Amino acid sequence: MSSTAISRPDPVLADTPPMPANAVEIAGLNKVYGGGRKTGPGKRALIDVNLEIPRGSLFGLLGPNGAGKSTLINIMAQLVNKSSGTVRIWDADLDRSPRAAAAAIGVVPQELNIDPFFTPAELLDLQAGLYGVPKRERRTQEILSAVGLADRATAYARTLSGGMRRRLMVAKAMVHRPPVLVLDEPTAGVDIELRQQLWEYVRGLATAGTTVLLTTHYLEEAEQLCDRIAIINHGQVIACDTTSALLRRLDRKELVFLTATDLPGIPAPLARFDAELQGPRRLLLRYQPSRTRIGEILAAVQTAGLEVVDMTTLETDLEDIFLQLTRGAHAGESDPAMAADRRPRVGHDIDG
Ligand SMILES: Nc1ncnc2c1ncn2[C@@H]1O[C@H](COP(=O)(O)OP(=O)(O)O)[C@@H](O)[C@H]1O
Ligand SMILES: [Mg+2]
Repeated sequence: MSSTAISRPDPVLADTPPMPANAVEIAGLNKVYGGGRKTGPGKRALIDVNLEIPRGSLFGLLGPNGAGKSTLINIMAQLVNKSSGTVRIWDADLDRSPRAAAAAIGVVPQELNIDPFFTPAELLDLQAGLYGVPKRERRTQEILSAVGLADRATAYARTLSGGMRRRLMVAKAMVHRPPVLVLDEPTAGVDIELRQQLWEYVRGLATAGTTVLLTTHYLEEAEQLCDRIAIINHGQVIACDTTSALLRRLDRKELVFLTATDLPGIPAPLARFDAELQGPRRLLLRYQPSRTRIGEILAAVQTAGLEVVDMTTLETDLEDIFLQLTRGAHAGESDPAMAADRRPRVGHDIDG
């Protein structure tokens, strides 16, 4: 897939004020589904959500299934009514300027809903019509090229693969060339190779200046792709920071030593570290980089006379942060959704 950027419009934005510092500002947002005198209290899907998405960022909204990600996205897309709070998109308030808010955002929903009997070119044209993009300003071919579908422009959508449909959905969301693009779980159920392609494409969009918000329950995805991450669980934002700050926050690293000979126990010079013998020749040391320098550990290993044949460091990843944060927020609570998100770190392909 080419990462050709879709050039931005200016007609739409020409007479608007200078670009906002935040592409999206959400304050005190609540959503309760259902509820009423007969049906009970309803489902609180979002609880006092505050979120600022800086212009130009590639922002990840990370959380397990049922956390409220789609609800948040769908409120921004005006597909779901909020219960309370304010949402501003590109400085347009959802309540006071719903049309301006809609013009500033393109949303790729979680479900692939593409009419199989249209071609990609027809679908984009229809979408452009819906958004009132005049014929002469439509850039159907340019957008299709950008998502790597130029050669399928006139093929029936039903003949497209899942990955192609996903890209077609992205193309649809881009026809009115919004400054903010929102992707709801863009790579859920997508194979690894295509996921890499989609990431590349999304990075390209961000580099070209589009503010991108994506939701994911793939921790690795948020970590690799996003410069800022908000973590949402049970409708509440429990952390929001730059990706590197979130990773730093945990301040925990692990070192694994493989030794040439069996170790009878934890060598005395290493006893003051948090050490664990994981096998006869495998020693794990946990430490806090802010308190312990790796040099101290290596010196102690030398003193202990260990014959090391291999050494690996394990960095904390978002999974640990996520578990730590949610454990803090819901101490002692058993949570099947969280358990479902605890899966191997390589080749995450589990779909919720
Ligand atoms: N239309 C709806 N009616 C009632 N409850 C809903 C509706 N949509 C979502 N929910 C509930 O709201 C919560 C958040 O759902 P959702 O926003 O889809 O989460 P996510 O996208 O993070 O998986 C879940 O408990 C879900 O069951
Ligand atoms: Mg969802």
